Amino acid sequence: MKTLVIGSGGREHALARALALDPGVTEVHAAPGNPGTATVATLHEVDPMDGEAVAALALDLEVDLVVVGPEAPLVAGVTDAVTARGIPVFGPTAAAARLEGSKAFAKEVMEAAGVPTARARLCTTLEEVEAALDDLGSPYVVKDDGLAAGKGVVVTEDRAAALEHAGQCGRVVVEEYLDGPEVSLFAITDGRTVYPLQPAQDFKRIGDGDEGPNTGGMGAYTPLPWAPADLVEEVLATVLQPTVDELAKRGTPFAGLLYAGLALTAAGTRVVEFNARFGDPETQPLLSLLDSPLSPLLLGAATGTLDEVPPPSWRSGSAVGVVMASKGYPESASRGDVITGIEDAEALPGVHVIQAGTATEGGRLVTAGGRVLAVVGNGPDLAAARAAAYAGVAVVEFPGAQHRTDIAQAAASA
Ligand code: AMP
Ligand code: GLY
Repeated sequence: MKTLVIGSGGREHALARALALDPGVTEVHAAPGNPGTATVATLHEVDPMDGEAVAALALDLEVDLVVVGPEAPLVAGVTDAVTARGIPVFGPTAAAARLEGSKAFAKEVMEAAGVPTARARLCTTLEEVEAALDDLGSPYVVKDDGLAAGKGVVVTEDRAAALEHAGQCGRVVVEEYLDGPEVSLFAITDGRTVYPLQPAQDFKRIGDGDEGPNTGGMGAYTPLPWAPADLVEEVLATVLQPTVDELAKRGTPFAGLLYAGLALTAAGTRVVEFNARFGDPETQPLLSLLDSPLSPLLLGAATGTLDEVPPPSWRSGSAVGVVMASKGYPESASRGDVITGIEDAEALPGVHVIQAGTATEGGRLVTAGGRVLAVVGNGPDLAAARAAAYAGVAVVEFPGAQHRTDIAQAAASA
């Protein structure tokens, strides 16, 4: 099978790598990709937001499957454009991707499907926001209704800051604060059959001990030794299947990757957010433990035949991904800093590196974004996987590099 991965981040490098390791895949193409993706795929130029251009490239390459990585092209309808040319696509249509593209839509679907989530109010004026803040109380949670590239959510005890964020957004969802550990649980679905993946945990704040501003994610690990044994079964029954069934009932089935961001609160499991694509950086450690070949799962989801594919199976052991970010992140991103040591890191046992914000300049690998790369460590348990990941981090260098030192630490020592 020939495949084409759309996107240029770490998630897409990890997807292309897993496809390259799949014996059923003969060719992996990626567009636009990055220098890391280029080590496992043939790169092509394309604007990921241009559905017609993606479809034309897929036709030209005669691929059997297109995998759309990021949310923006999904919400913009790239899947619809490629499907219209008769090519199977992994990733939801624009109508189904609204689950990520509009927080208000996601809330409405959850209410209709009886999915447990934070109480919330959609607000379009500051008066409505003030009333909602008073009703739902502190800490205040204010979310931009639309896609905001990780900058849409403010959680604060400062009412003025909550109001200021609402003022900058326009339409916002104000919701109840959910207290408890967060879990990322992904499912592959064709709109009917739902296969959950192993739970993972993401570290959203820039600093150790969850200090500082939110980021796209500074690290992740899987599986979660502390999670309740029936968590996946429970979330499948109360969140994933009801949501997939609700969208099917509406005539806009969701096929692709349904990402449930969950909070395990004292009152029970609640959905914090839905995303319509693989999470980044959770996908980097997660795919390193996937034992099943990836392509049949993605193709089954894309063609409505997932029930004919065996559910995913997992290697034993653990995986930890530690993100190295560039100077200034998350407020800004430094570009052009020379990166060294990736080959040395990958020579260590159980270590591989997934690139995200990288570029080549004059034959050298340089930084080209906020989250530059993730060092992934695999081991028989979390402590070993952590040790491997941090051994890799210790040999990768670029000026101004930042990383958290506590990814998976609490879970590994529990
Ligand atoms: P989202 O973009 O919805 O994932 O929100 C980003 C982050 O904000 C989440 O991962 C949580 O850490 C935090 N967050 C979002 N909603 C809530 C909530 N209702 N209560 C507490 N924290 C939240
Ligand atoms: N890891 C968070 C996200 O992908 O949205």
